[in-house]
Amino acid sequence: MLKKVDYDERQHLTYERGRALSPAVVARWMDAFARHAGDRRPLTVADVGSGTGRFTPALAGTFGGPVYGIEPSDRMRAIAEGAPHGPAVMYLAGSAERIPLPDRSCDVVLLFLSFHHVTDRPGAVREIARVLRPGGRVLLRTSFGDRLPDKPWHRYFPRARAVEQAMFPTVREVLDVFAGAGLAQVAFERVPERLADSMADYVARLRYRASSTFEHLTGAEIAAGFAAIEAAADTAAPGPIEAGSDLLVLAT
Ligand SMILES: C[S@@+](CC[C@H](N)C(=O)[O-])C[C@H]1O[C@@H](n2cnc3c(N)ncnc32)[C@H](O)[C@@H]1O
Repeated sequence: MLKKVDYDERQHLTYERGRALSPAVVARWMDAFARHAGDRRPLTVADVGSGTGRFTPALAGTFGGPVYGIEPSDRMRAIAEGAPHGPAVMYLAGSAERIPLPDRSCDVVLLFLSFHHVTDRPGAVREIARVLRPGGRVLLRTSFGDRLPDKPWHRYFPRARAVEQAMFPTVREVLDVFAGAGLAQVAFERVPERLADSMADYVARLRYRASSTFEHLTGAEIAAGFAAIEAAADTAAPGPIEAGSDLLVLAT
């Protein structure tokens, strides 16, 4: 069992820089979300585990809103609140297990890389089902322990893949827990995503250690991994680093 990562401790310091997204990547995600949310606008959205608000303002642009960014870490939420966002966006303290919104108030509930941090998954799923309107959609962007993509950095940090296999639930575990609250899969796709424009850029971003996986590696493992990946970056062929990211869509 991995220890719970508290984003108030270290991750909030580097998350924005280490996980910055280009407008093109944000737009690609908005297209993916919109494909699964029907044509009606405006839609009310809960961005659960909204972090520094990487997606929250763009969700308002795509769906009209209101968009509620629900985030347990005070420091992550403060960064989101300090960034430009329009009146359709509101950031609220809360968590997947405790969503401070009324019953049947949301058309879309997005969890973008937050579900694996949830301790009480059945409780969280009940809460998500509670706030979802009939006909609404849950957009779950997560990795799955049994279908991890081939992440380039894992080759240089030998224990990282095993950490992520323990960190992320399997597809079956996710489907079973959502089924417990009457939610079932309606779509499942792998969205292509550009992680960096070059290996050097990829390593520079990785240096921020803005991934909770790093919180489970030792200092020696991290130092050895960076020495190896930096040597590899020196001789890497030019070209972008791409990956495929899983998006599971659920509804009642
Ligand atoms: C990897 S970050 C993702 C943030 C944002 N969704 C993004 O993609 O930039 C994970 C976030 O989940 C939050 N988190 C941790 N436990 C949570 C919980 N039980 N419910 C909701 N969010 C949680 C963390 O505080 C952190 O901000």
